[in-house]
Amino acid sequence: MNDIINFGSINVDHVYSVNSLVQEGETITAIERNLYYGGKGLNQSIAAARAGGRVHHAGLIGGTGEGLAEYLASAGVDTSLINRTAVEQGHAIIQVDRKGKNSIIVYPGSNHQIGREYINHVLSRFPSGGFLILQNEISNVSYIISKAQELGFHVVFNASPIDSSLPEIPIGKLTWLMINQTEGQALSGKYTPDGIMAFLHEKHPHTGIVLTLGEDGVLCLQGDTLLSFGVYKTEVVDTTAAGDTFTGYFVSSLANGDSLETAVRLASAASAMAISSPGASASIPYMRDVLSMLASNNVPYVEKRLSAGPF
Ligand code: RIB
Repeated sequence: MNDIINFGSINVDHVYSVNSLVQEGETITAIERNLYYGGKGLNQSIAAARAGGRVHHAGLIGGTGEGLAEYLASAGVDTSLINRTAVEQGHAIIQVDRKGKNSIIVYPGSNHQIGREYINHVLSRFPSGGFLILQNEISNVSYIISKAQELGFHVVFNASPIDSSLPEIPIGKLTWLMINQTEGQALSGKYTPDGIMAFLHEKHPHTGIVLTLGEDGVLCLQGDTLLSFGVYKTEVVDTTAAGDTFTGYFVSSLANGDSLETAVRLASAASAMAISSPGASASIPYMRDVLSMLASNNVPYVEKRLSAGPF
């Protein structure tokens, strides 16, 4: 099994349950508020660890983030590389409506203090060949991608959240790009799933692409092979961290030497389970539960060769 290093954000999530998401110019009253540990980085580390991966989290705990490293460690993640900063801990303001849909504001805080010296130190601790996960919630993302690719890591980038730094990301240096439809549109200027895949593949033919489409399933493209999966149906309680669960399970499965088909199946089933309970990291399932769901529920998939024709 390969090591998984996650250079990832660590947040405290302030989650407000609301009847419907607040609109421009509107003031609404929340039904309740809960605090959870989150951040796309922390969630993805926990998902990869619950999937059975050997996960090392690199990131910063801020002045107000006591308890976060212990939480990660209790999930089986190696936290020995996590550093401290006096800057305030990153946090997120999350609204979740009655249908389980959300909207999120992230305040980067400590997550934007990750500097090159620290990055070089972390990368120097691992042999080449491992997997490196990144999301767009920390500083120096492009530097980490370039350095890690140079050192021979398989770099997996989840292009979330979308911000002005996204066009600068060296996508061609990634082994895997993980996107949803909105992120795909931002990166390609195309609106349909096929259009997004075709555009990104033509521009970056050596980068595998996973495009998650919510209720419409998942497209996964590597080299000449395009896999199209349906979706596992579950009750929608809270969609927060569905994408993080997908990425963590996907990478853990690949690091374990599984086939692409297995990796997508595990990731899809795990993220379907995550949306059926509240919270971010709190909703991420364990591998044994994912396997038992898969034993009774397997969605079909279609495999296509790109060389056989256009998308
Ligand atoms: O993907 C969900 C996560 O996005 C939350 O945990 C929040 O912290 C934001 O980073």
